Amino acid sequence: MTTYDQSFSGVIFNLDGVLVDTSVYHYAAWRRLANELGFDINQQEHETLRGLSRMASLEKILEWGNVYLTEAEKLHMSDVKNNWYKQLLVSVTPDHVLAGVVPFLTELKGAGFKIGLSSASKSARMVLNSTHLTSFFDVIIDGHSTRKSKPDPECFLMASRELGLLPTRCVVFEDSHLGVQAGLFGDFTVIGVGSSDYLTNAHAVIPNFENLSIKNMLGILADTPVISS
Ligand code: G6P
Repeated sequence: MTTYDQSFSGVIFNLDGVLVDTSVYHYAAWRRLANELGFDINQQEHETLRGLSRMASLEKILEWGNVYLTEAEKLHMSDVKNNWYKQLLVSVTPDHVLAGVVPFLTELKGAGFKIGLSSASKSARMVLNSTHLTSFFDVIIDGHSTRKSKPDPECFLMASRELGLLPTRCVVFEDSHLGVQAGLFGDFTVIGVGSSDYLTNAHAVIPNFENLSIKNMLGILADTPVISS
């Protein structure tokens, strides 16, 4: 086993859009709901919902459509969306895991890194099971465990605490601007997964996990200036 002489010993991943390509299903289910309410949403608008809780997402969508619902109606609508989303999730398999993810998780595990998952989704465990990723994780924090939406750092702080590590010893991988902010607010080192056009605050940005190794993750971070939130 290679030993890495450096300060990081934990890695915490967001799920949707980082490890697994599920955002297309969230989009389809939200769009169907908007259509039922008499308006439409586009992909660009949906991108801004990444990382938000289900209820926070619904509230944004209702705002876009100028639709007012009572609290009881909102709860009902978020259940309706979730049922459609779960119907779509039935077709998720290990093929939905994004490129490079399994080799990178395998390398981290083999090198003795502690691995956490922090997702706002209440379906996170279902997605991990369907994609056969569950056994990689020492800790799983999902939408059932957290109370605060990103950019609050609660979900990452819970993960690092359960891993027994200080935030400064963990790298967070995030695909959303809100998630990057949450990581920075929690004092984590954050690598954005996607485009540096919108992940502007991350310590570093990678397009995806293809060909990512521990060595080049540490190399990217070593070349990065210190950023504060
Ligand atoms: C993640 C996704 C969001 C989703 C949220 C809640 O953060 O990026 O798009 O709305 O989880 O997911 P849930 O499955 O609980 O509705």
